[in-house]
Amino acid sequence: MVKISPSLNSVNILEAKSIIEALEPHCDSFHIDVMDGHFVPNLTFGPAVVNALAKVISKAISLHLMVENPEKLIEYLQLPENSVVLFHKTATAKPESFIKLLNKKGWRAGIAIDPDEPVETASSLLSELDYVLVMTVRPGFSGQELIPQMLSKIKELILYRKKHKLKFKIAIDGGINAENIKEVARLGVDELVISSAIFKTKDPLKALKNLAKLVKS
Ligand code: DX5
Ligand code: ZN
Repeated sequence: MVKISPSLNSVNILEAKSIIEALEPHCDSFHIDVMDGHFVPNLTFGPAVVNALAKVISKAISLHLMVENPEKLIEYLQLPENSVVLFHKTATAKPESFIKLLNKKGWRAGIAIDPDEPVETASSLLSELDYVLVMTVRPGFSGQELIPQMLSKIKELILYRKKHKLKFKIAIDGGINAENIKEVARLGVDELVISSAIFKTKDPLKALKNLAKLVKS
């Protein structure tokens, strides 16, 4: 069954603790987007906020780094073991060493593939990775529409994984909502990252439950 990972990008940060506690029984993990205003034009959470969020989350955490030189940032992070850290290949000069660094800290590593990047962007790293995050919007902002052409890229990645007998999980990030969630889930991916369709609603818990119901039916 596909898992749902609410992305805290659009959460009301002043109410984050109580919202996380309410959603937790109904989701499998939380996704935290870190943007530095350079790698992407937007700016979100710094290490202090990430660490504070990590303390109140008891489910798994996936941290999506949209920052230049992620090696520097991770020195300041306190994440539980087995957290997933996702990065963009062009953000670091040495992706192989970065994966090793993450694993040394007890974290799992994943690569995010941008809409303009082909699946091959990640191919040399796939045997070392636990996750691949397929971006179905341009990284930087919640609330964008899913780019439909990305669906064939997801299918291609699923076939690649099968053909090469690889074990990485596939997560999809951006523009997923009640209208398209069934179509995306049906492709056979492992995780759906969703922000505005949960948090930009009057009742995030109700929205999450509804999305979870749609993927089950
Ligand atoms: C975009 C972020 C996403 C974003 C998803 O750069 O990586 O995680 O929060 O937001 P929605 O679900 O609104 O597209
Ligand atoms: Zn993200």
